[in-house]
Amino acid sequence: MKPDSQQLLFSKGAALARPGNGRRESLTFKANRNLGRHGWLRLTPAYSRHLVERLTEPLTSNDRVLDPFCGTGTTALTCAEHGIYCDTVDVNPFLIWLANVKLATYSPSDIHAATIFGEKLNPTTGSGTEWRPPIKDIQKWWSEDDLSSLAHILTTIKHADVSESARNLLFSAFCRTAIETAAVSFGHQSMSFKTQVVQPTLAALDYSMSLKNLFVKRLAEIVNAAQVPVRSGLAEAVLGDSRKLDSLPNAKYSYVITSPPYPNRMSYIRELRPYMYWLGFLHDGRQAGELDWKAIGGTWGCATSNLMRWQPDNTANIPGSGFAAMIARISDHSRILSLYVHKYFEDCVLHFRALSRVLTEGAQVHYIVGNSRFYDVMVPTEQIYHDIMINNGFHHVTVENIRKRSSKKELFEFVVSGTFGSTNLMPGTAKAAAAARGSGEMLRGIHSLPCGAGDRGDNQLRNAHAASNDKGF
Ligand SMILES: C[S@@+](CC[C@H](N)C(=O)[O-])C[C@H]1O[C@@H](n2cnc3c(N)ncnc32)[C@H](O)[C@@H]1O
Repeated sequence: MKPDSQQLLFSKGAALARPGNGRRESLTFKANRNLGRHGWLRLTPAYSRHLVERLTEPLTSNDRVLDPFCGTGTTALTCAEHGIYCDTVDVNPFLIWLANVKLATYSPSDIHAATIFGEKLNPTTGSGTEWRPPIKDIQKWWSEDDLSSLAHILTTIKHADVSESARNLLFSAFCRTAIETAAVSFGHQSMSFKTQVVQPTLAALDYSMSLKNLFVKRLAEIVNAAQVPVRSGLAEAVLGDSRKLDSLPNAKYSYVITSPPYPNRMSYIRELRPYMYWLGFLHDGRQAGELDWKAIGGTWGCATSNLMRWQPDNTANIPGSGFAAMIARISDHSRILSLYVHKYFEDCVLHFRALSRVLTEGAQVHYIVGNSRFYDVMVPTEQIYHDIMINNGFHHVTVENIRKRSSKKELFEFVVSGTFGSTNLMPGTAKAAAAARGSGEMLRGIHSLPCGAGDRGDNQLRNAHAASNDKGF
């Protein structure tokens, strides 16, 4: 790869792909925990407000930012906080709900109603007969007492006589409480349950930190942050597929800041499903698999068995002479993992084709991506993104290594940056030129495979993945 020259953002003058200086948690979700609305709900692969602030430094209120992989809405919220327009897209309806709740304006009466709800919440644990979500082995997630309290709080929220905005604040505090009391660790791909005997629940540990008290504490924090206004109307999250980008408002974007999924077999459904079941975004495992099949890199349930039937689209044209050899080497170990990596990058090509239809001439893009390793085969995600961008109308494409992702010495996170459009426009000189590009091209290769009965593919992929080395975020 021969990158063009462009000023690097995080370590001026650093050599291309020189390893980052360490884990740099200031760039990850961990840095958001105490930052008001940014800390409302964690998503392990989220990046930090700090990182978005670094990348938005050159922007003015004339710019329009797109984040095609919204996640928890870090880009959109940071932009709104800094007076910059931003639209953001995600395939997951729960994340769209969450991002819009973080971006909303709350009136004094919403704040009052949410506060009063916390003060009046009945301390009893509930009758035990309230609705519980159909999460498989739910008793592994929560003790019977905590489940009963959660079900009671949720039912009370649903029946409360409050505005929709106030109810959303209550649901956010509920989600925080549910995840903090779950006996589950999301630290790596293979989610593990903590042993409840060794690690008693919060309620059993200390009455003063009973689940209800924890809910009231989290609600107070959320209500506090909701009182700090965000300029409404500047940022919006919309449900959609970034391989099409057909659900966006009719606008062109001068800037992209985003972090797509990495090819590391991580399923967002895995971490999000407790919230999604409790709040009614998911009703059964089949639905979870179908949603994950729409996500780039999804592997949950039937997403994996669909993958086994998936055929590459030869017109997608993934550039780079080493790509086919890399896929063949992974296939020597595991055909399903090779299909997984192949489809991941084919979806990236579809995304960049769709993106090229909504960018202004001279638009700047920044993609935060992570590399992976399967068996002894490195997947140089950053180089493949570089090549896909060059192939899809970008120039001045650079790759900067910004941090280590895990204790594994070869796993890093990079910013891949580029400028869209004709090469005589230097980066940053063609803001909001709004040049209309081609009228659109039919998407090829997004296959709509139904979920089959008895999906067992995820186990195959999970077993195959045990041989991979990618446990970092
Ligand atoms: C790494 S996360 C983004 C994290 C985000 N930067 C944050 O700070 O929270 C990637 C996101 O891409 C979404 N995604 C995956 N496939 C998608 C698709 N085809 N279209 C839109 N979003 C998709 C996932 O649901 C996930 O929320």
